[in-house]
Amino acid sequence: MNIPMVDLKGQYESLKDEIDSSILQALSETRFILGPNVQSFDKEAAEYLGAKHAISCANGTDALHLALLAAGIQPGDEVITTAFTFIATAEAIRYIGAIPVFVDIQPQSLNIDPDRIRAAITDKTRAILPVHLFGQAADMNEIQAIADEFGLLIIEDCAQSFGARYQGKTTGTLGCVGAFSFFPSKNLGCYGDGGMVTTNDDELASRVRMLRNHGSSKQYHHDVIGFNSRLDELQAVILRIKLKHIDDYNRKRLEVARTYNQLLAGSRFTTPNIPPDRDHVFHQYTLLCDERDKLRETILAQDIACAVYYPIPLHQQQAFHDTEQPQLPVTESVAQRCLSFPIFPEMTSAQIETVCEALLAAK
Ligand SMILES: Cc1ncc(COP(=O)(O)O)c(C=O)c1O
Repeated sequence: MNIPMVDLKGQYESLKDEIDSSILQALSETRFILGPNVQSFDKEAAEYLGAKHAISCANGTDALHLALLAAGIQPGDEVITTAFTFIATAEAIRYIGAIPVFVDIQPQSLNIDPDRIRAAITDKTRAILPVHLFGQAADMNEIQAIADEFGLLIIEDCAQSFGARYQGKTTGTLGCVGAFSFFPSKNLGCYGDGGMVTTNDDELASRVRMLRNHGSSKQYHHDVIGFNSRLDELQAVILRIKLKHIDDYNRKRLEVARTYNQLLAGSRFTTPNIPPDRDHVFHQYTLLCDERDKLRETILAQDIACAVYYPIPLHQQQAFHDTEQPQLPVTESVAQRCLSFPIFPEMTSAQIETVCEALLAAK
């Protein structure tokens, strides 16, 4: 049985009539830049997340970049983050000449370890940038306590956590600003690139609105040098439709993960934990195991997808060779042992069982 990592085709088929007719409607209206669907999506996303402002933009990398700029991060500032993430997290820090300072992760959650943050703080530290990796919120109370103690900002990378909650509050509303990605394979994904910044701070929101549109708050008046980073109207059409289903999608992902955990209980694999105080939205279902590469080959040979997120932590990437090389033993061990398996809302019990049978039979 061929089992893909995600089934975007199946999801499109289930929404096809609404998506096709709404796209045709947007085409006939021809308001392609910051049109009515972008404006409505910004309102609807803010309402869904419980954020005062949601400002869509061109992609998740830009969302991080705009968030850092609007939060006032300056060249030379240090931003504490994780090395076990997609490169965009730290790329955005470098875009403004700030310095990513990598600290280790927790072996259970794979998120930044708050106990390691204090030792990384210097007089240049301005912010902490946790990533809610694979759909699970980081330890925000502990991170907030450190931020309060040292007067630091919290900038959340929510690229993988749309709809995830921490003690009832959605990610993207826990720090001073949040950054989301709508890359097609994300929990809320569009059909191209898309991103969004969230904040409860009115001034920060108006800076992001300006920055995404050439530094302009009024047509042909440019207060600052900004960017062309607007969400496309057609992507907004798709996101508005999918947003109506996001709770259902996230609930189904959680069910898939729970079933995987049950079927793999007691095996040689370390399954993801699901803490009771946060709603995990399982952007990825990731196991830890020994002899990972051998397992990967065995599973792929059975036409079952699996993938390594992330094989090379950021502090070991050539792009960061000029950044201080910290010792990150948990990050380095997890990068050798992690393997992610198919998870998507449409996944059937038969598909989950097939993956687990292959895993349990693998030598
Ligand atoms: C953790 C993380 N941060 C940032 C990004 C960047 O998002 P985008 O690909 O939309 O630029 C991604 C996704 O690709 C991501 O997974």
